[in-house]
Amino acid sequence: MIYFDNSATTRPYANVLQSFQEVSQRYYGNPSSIHRFGFEAEKLLRKAHEQAASILNVEASEVVFTSGGTEGNNMAIKGIALAHQNKGKHIITTTIEHPSVLEACKSLEEIGFDVTYLPVDKTGIVNVDELEAALRDDTILVSVMHVNNEVGSIQPIEKIAKLIKHRKKTFFHVDHVQGFGKVPLTLIDSGIDLCTISGHKIHGLKGTGLLYIRNSVHLFSLFDGGAQQNNYRSGTENVAGIVSLVKAMRIINEKQKNNKNYLNELNKLMRKSLNDLPHIHFNTIENQAPHILNFSIPGYKPEVIIHALGERDIFISTKSACSSKKPDESAVLRAMDMSTEIAKSGLRVSFSYENTHEEVELFCRSLRKVTKQLSLVMG
Ligand SMILES: Cc1ncc(COP(=O)(O)O)c(C=O)c1O
Repeated sequence: MIYFDNSATTRPYANVLQSFQEVSQRYYGNPSSIHRFGFEAEKLLRKAHEQAASILNVEASEVVFTSGGTEGNNMAIKGIALAHQNKGKHIITTTIEHPSVLEACKSLEEIGFDVTYLPVDKTGIVNVDELEAALRDDTILVSVMHVNNEVGSIQPIEKIAKLIKHRKKTFFHVDHVQGFGKVPLTLIDSGIDLCTISGHKIHGLKGTGLLYIRNSVHLFSLFDGGAQQNNYRSGTENVAGIVSLVKAMRIINEKQKNNKNYLNELNKLMRKSLNDLPHIHFNTIENQAPHILNFSIPGYKPEVIIHALGERDIFISTKSACSSKKPDESAVLRAMDMSTEIAKSGLRVSFSYENTHEEVELFCRSLRKVTKQLSLVMG
């Protein structure tokens, strides 16, 4: 089997599963209980907070564990909007965000917020000058993703953060779900106020994640209850999930450090091998996120290619249609001003550190065969 759909989700590391099982079996006490069993779970939780914070180089009090990217994004965006609406009701984001950002913004529009959706250029990158021009006195939040999930374009987060850092009323949220472990991002002193990370994109478990909330940033809390996690997210903590998330963060961070150029090599090899495939159009420009390569082969339905590759035990994906008005084309590719034909035929390959050069070569050979067979069928 060749699994090249790591931006959709990843296979959990064996150590992650082991941590989850061990903590579930041995430390199942409620961390809020005042007996020894609860205290042991609470100790593990505190350690996980400290370890996650040390990996991110932030304070333990700045980490809130969540159920993943969707929750982190909603918690950040709605949390800022509801807590700071007395200072302004304007939000800035981009047209290529994940639906968990776009739909959160749309919900806020329904209750009176004003949202600017900034366009991106043909490479899938937002223009910092346009963002600066869109800032207003009543702008309370800017939310921009680090790495786009469909095409892998990297947004100029440092430059945007610098713009916002000295604005007292404006907070900056970054969806770092696709970037963590692949494209470095500095949080401390950067001007980033909130940052979302998801466990299952980094070989952790589904239903785990975290939101970085810079100390002194106040959010309206979406979950009321027992006041766990500094009252930001009430509910008994998923201690085993949290410990396993931190394990995944640690392992992928090590891999990133020790294999700096590895994903890039796979990406370049695939690009080179596919370059002479008839009509291929690369939708990802060079030197973007190393783990994502998006391309179109106009004339072929992507679903048919994915199905044919699936029969050979090879797994890639098509665009995520969730935010597109037309269900068969990619909203992200349309936002990049690609033709309808290109936007309808996008294919996404996404690597992990577990993939190999041999897999890339086998994939390219298989794709060649599949397109040839399909052209014969189509006449
Ligand atoms: C950029 C981005 N943000 C947010 C999410 C949502 O994350 P989760 O699946 O953990 O809710 C995804 C998932 O595909 C994503 O790619």
